[in-house]
Amino acid sequence: MNILVIGSGGREHALVKQFKQSPAVQTVYVAPGNDGMTKEAECVAIDSMDFASLSLFAKNNEIALTFVGPEQPLAAGIVDYFTEQGQKIFGPTQAAARIEGSKSFAKELMAKYSIPTSKYGTFTNVIEAKQFISDKGAPIVVKADGLAAGKGVVVALTLDEAYQAVEEMIGNQKFGESSSRVVIEEFLEGEEFSFMSFVFDGEVYPMPIAQDHKRAFDGDIGPNTGGMGAYSPVPQISQAVIEQAYTEVVMPTIAAMANEGTPFTGILYTGLILTTDGPKVIEFNARFGDPEAQVVLPRMASDFAEFMVALTNRRLFELKWYDDAVLGVVVASNGYPGEYETGKALPDLEVLTALQLDVFHAATKSVNGKLISNGGRVIVVAAKAESLEEARNAVHEGLSKLRWDGFFYRKDIGWRTFI
Ligand code: AMP
Ligand code: GLY
Repeated sequence: MNILVIGSGGREHALVKQFKQSPAVQTVYVAPGNDGMTKEAECVAIDSMDFASLSLFAKNNEIALTFVGPEQPLAAGIVDYFTEQGQKIFGPTQAAARIEGSKSFAKELMAKYSIPTSKYGTFTNVIEAKQFISDKGAPIVVKADGLAAGKGVVVALTLDEAYQAVEEMIGNQKFGESSSRVVIEEFLEGEEFSFMSFVFDGEVYPMPIAQDHKRAFDGDIGPNTGGMGAYSPVPQISQAVIEQAYTEVVMPTIAAMANEGTPFTGILYTGLILTTDGPKVIEFNARFGDPEAQVVLPRMASDFAEFMVALTNRRLFELKWYDDAVLGVVVASNGYPGEYETGKALPDLEVLTALQLDVFHAATKSVNGKLISNGGRVIVVAAKAESLEEARNAVHEGLSKLRWDGFFYRKDIGWRTFI
């Protein structure tokens, strides 16, 4: 069969690689992909928001399944479009993707169905938002309601920071329409984890959990990013807590979405914080996390394409995972998540692959046979090993063999598990 992956980042490269391992898969296409993926996939120069061209391409190339990576096409209704054409696609409908696309929608859903999360308020008015902040006190968290590429969250340690966030988001429309409404919520303290599940028509297959590092710099300081590195498993989160999150959060959320008339199909990403009151939701995503996909998918022992066929045909499947640990580090352009330059030459990545490291291309471009950067997060370098410590050491040994002029990466990914 042929597979079409929609998107262009490191997450999509992980999807491509996983599909490519399946003997049942002939060609993996990726639209638009990037030049770093051409070993495993055929890149198709169609924008991920151009549904008509994507659907036509899928028809003409006998695509058995289209798998959507990023949130933007989901929020814009790509699944509805393909389904109307009678084409097979995996992901949530536009209505179900609101669980990620509108934080106020997600919060209202959780409130209605008693799914554990932080207390909150929703505002479109700067003065009312500031009043709420001054009533609640700091630390407090300000979130743009809509999509903001992982950058729409400000964890404010002081009242002034929170006021400023509100002014920028509502007042100055920092994220356009996405921040004309904000959710302001109670600050939660504890260990974070990302819990993703495959969901189809009420069937749920949970994946091993991962932990991301959202802050730009070592020691978890600096601005929030899309994610600077991740690892799986997360030994400091017990199996009992994972099961609690499954029964108190994942299953009730899937039931709630169905009950609201917007059943969820696709990857339900639940971001949680383990508080002293148990795990609480900090966000839902309607897709794989990036870089979580790059550390969770390589742990899948079952054939990915076979699994997807079984899942989407409602056939039971024994989904198996390796015990091995995977740790991945994002190499980003200097300046990310703020302004950064692209077009910087990457060092010889063959040095990494020769060391058995996995390289996921997030934003690279080939010019005269040489790879250059083409975005904020550029590559993810990951290792699979018997222990997280070995995986971490392997990644760092590899990264330290090369010069990274114009790039930076965190050297402490996984620190919470190593202390
Ligand atoms: P999000 O994009 O919603 O995942 O938020 C980005 C990051 O902000 C999360 O990974 C957390 O580290 C932090 N964060 C979000 N919500 C809260 C909260 N209620 N309390 C504490 N930290 C939070
Ligand atoms: N790494 C978090 C996300 O993909 O939203």
